[in-house]
Amino acid sequence: MAEETRKRKADHIKICLGQKVQARKATTGFEDIHLIHKALPEINRAKIDLSTTVFGHKFAAPIIVGAMTGGTEEATRINATIAEAVEQLQLGMGVGSQRAAIEDKELAKTFSVARKKAPSAFLVANIGGVQLVNGYGVKEAKKAVEMIDADALAIHLNTLQEAMQPEGQTNFEGVLARIGEVAEALDKPVIVKETGAGIAAEEARKLEAIGVKGIDVSGCGGTSFAAVEHYRGGKEKQVLADTFWDWGIPTAASLIETTQTVKIPIIASGGLRSGTDVAKALTLNSCLASISQPLLENAVISGKETEKTLSRFVEELRNTMFLVGARETKDLVKVPVVITGKTAEWATKRGFKVGNYARRGAL
Ligand SMILES: Cc1cc2nc3c(=O)[nH]c(=O)nc-3n(C[C@H](O)[C@H](O)[C@H](O)COP(=O)(O)O)c2cc1C
Repeated sequence: MAEETRKRKADHIKICLGQKVQARKATTGFEDIHLIHKALPEINRAKIDLSTTVFGHKFAAPIIVGAMTGGTEEATRINATIAEAVEQLQLGMGVGSQRAAIEDKELAKTFSVARKKAPSAFLVANIGGVQLVNGYGVKEAKKAVEMIDADALAIHLNTLQEAMQPEGQTNFEGVLARIGEVAEALDKPVIVKETGAGIAAEEARKLEAIGVKGIDVSGCGGTSFAAVEHYRGGKEKQVLADTFWDWGIPTAASLIETTQTVKIPIIASGGLRSGTDVAKALTLNSCLASISQPLLENAVISGKETEKTLSRFVEELRNTMFLVGARETKDLVKVPVVITGKTAEWATKRGFKVGNYARRGAL
C-alpha cells in the first residue's frame, strides 16, 4: 500500500510540473474583486506592517505554501527547499499527505525534513479525510503531527480527486464525525482543507460546530485535481476527468461563503497567483493565503527561486496595501471593495453581502 501511495505521489509531482493542470474555463473570481485605488493614502510605504498572528503564531506576512508532497527522495528535496525559504521569510508551509509515512516509518524523514530545515516556521501536518473513514483515527493524526512537530493538522477533503482516480476511495460516509473526534482529541488546531473544489457555507458551519479550528477553502480556479488525474487514467478516465476539469466553487465565492458564515480563521487558496490576489483574499476576510503549484515549480529549481517567488508575493501585497492605504494587514477588511460579475451574482443569489466587510472578532 505504501508503495502504491508513493508512486501516486511521484506521479502527481511529475504531472504538476510537466503538464497543464490549471483550471481551463473556470477562474478564481478574483477578477471580480476590485480594490479602490486611494490617491491620498496618507501612509508611508516603508512603515507598512505585513505581520499577522493566526493560531497563536506570528507570521512575517500572511502567506504560506500549501500542502504538496512527501514520501519520495524528490519530495524530500522539495520539502527541504520550501522549508528553508519559509524559515528565512518567517512564513509557513504544509507538507503533503503523510499517509505513506504513517504506513512505513522509513518514509518519515521525507516529511520531517521540513521541521529540520524550518525550526521556527509554522508547519502544517496533513492526512486525508477519507483515511479517517477507512480506519485512521486520533492515533494516526497524532503520529502525523509528531512526525514533523507540527503547529497544526490539516485534514484534506478530495472527493473530486478520488472520484477521478482509477484506484480512488469514494466512501465518505461518517467523515464529519471522524473529523470531530480528531479535532477534539488533538492539542493542536485542526484545519479542514479542500484540494481545489472549494468549501460552501453549509459545510463551513458544520465544521465549525464540530470543533474544527480553521478552514482552508482551496477553491476552484487554480490547480485542478481532475486535470491531474486526467494524465494518470486510461482513455475512459480521461473523458471523465475532462468533464470535471473546472468543477468546484470558485475561490472568491468560497471565501465569501465561509467568511460570512463562521468565526474560525479562513485560509484562502486555490489559484492565488500574486500578492494582489492575497490582498483581495484578506479584504474578503480571510486571515492567511496559501499558494501551492507555482512554488513547486520554483522548489525543483532552487531555494533561491523559491525565496524569490515568495518575496515577490510579499512585495506585491505590500504595494497593494500602499495603493489602498492599508497600514496593517487587518486594515484590509476595512478598505472599500467592489464585487462585480459572476462573483457578485453568486453572492447575491446565495444571500451573502457584496459590500464592505466588518472585521470578525475571532481571529
Ligand atoms: C503536486 C501537488 C500535490 C498536492 N498534494 C496535496 C496533499 O497531499 N494534501 C493536500 O491537502 N493538498 C494537496 N495538494 C493541494 C494543494 O494543497 C492546494 O489545495 C491546491 O493545489 C490549490 O492551490 P494552487 O492552485 O495554488 O495549486 C497538492 C497540490 C499539488 C500541486
